[in-house]
Amino acid sequence: MSSEWIGQLRSIEQQFDRERESAADLRSLEEVKNRFLSRKSGLLTLQLQNVRNVPAAERAEFGRIANEIKGRIETALEALQQKFSDADATAALERERLDVTLPGNRRRIGHIHPLTLARQEIEDIFISMGYTVEDGPEVEKTYYNFEALNIPASHPARDPKDTFYVSDDVVLRTHTSPVQVRTMEKMQPPVRIICPGRVYRRDAADATHTPMFHQFECLLVDEGITFSDLKGTLERFHKLYFGEKTETRLRPSFFPFTEPSAEVDVSCVFCGRKGCRVCKHSGWIEVMGSGLVNPRLFEFVKYDASRYTGFAFGGGIERYHALKYGINDIQLYYQNDMRFLEQF
Ligand code: PHE
Repeated sequence: MSSEWIGQLRSIEQQFDRERESAADLRSLEEVKNRFLSRKSGLLTLQLQNVRNVPAAERAEFGRIANEIKGRIETALEALQQKFSDADATAALERERLDVTLPGNRRRIGHIHPLTLARQEIEDIFISMGYTVEDGPEVEKTYYNFEALNIPASHPARDPKDTFYVSDDVVLRTHTSPVQVRTMEKMQPPVRIICPGRVYRRDAADATHTPMFHQFECLLVDEGITFSDLKGTLERFHKLYFGEKTETRLRPSFFPFTEPSAEVDVSCVFCGRKGCRVCKHSGWIEVMGSGLVNPRLFEFVKYDASRYTGFAFGGGIERYHALKYGINDIQLYYQNDMRFLEQF
């Protein structure tokens, strides 16, 4: 059967077949769809609206064929739509492709510096013995760094060859002992403090020297403190820090701020006193300066020297850490080589 009406339907169908061939992506497909099926102006839609002008005898046939063509077009469009959106997804995957087997950039996690660890360990030991942690300025008045510690103007430690002067009466502190004076100025006995911190000396850097290093200072003042309290405290501290077998020895010495004064040795942590290269075959290693607080300091801070006595000692944090772990070059602490730092 063919009439003018049905012929028109067929030619719309052929036109659709041609156009869908040329649709290359979802966008051009959408245009094709609109041209044939849009509700207002689609070519096929208009034909279907025409049904009332078709002669009655042909109308049923016309309607059947028109619906059949509409169904075909819709099916064809859906299939193409599926095909193009699959292709789009594949292209996106290809574009965004990740090689999950490529090694990533590993982020290194921060690490507490060994000197901080050593400081914390030393602090913890003294805290467990009832001490509190004090702090003091690194840029210090000569009064606190020298005068009030009974260090006379002629003392070699005051020489600008050895000390960094900021001005005539301000220095980078050469030891943590000024915190003794500052602490006694602001609190009354009993005083039981430890003060860790940076100190500065004009030394050229080598395996055992560096212009900046760390010390910790200990000060105890109360009624009835004697030299045996000093010795007992040092012995306990060294056993806790280096191990129970460690022995402590005191040798007479001199510091202007302590009287009497003593150098503190520990039994060699490497050979256990048998004698080795590190202890120069003496069995002992020097670690600190110490003594009973010189009563002249009490005059500066207005403590009653007939009532109170005290002890003080100070040592290098680098040295304590290095001895514990067998480090033979102090520069390792400042080079920030992760291979060194990560061992602690
Ligand atoms: N301040 C001394 C030094 O730096 C150490 C010390 C501290 C000695 C306390 C006696 C008492 O060498």
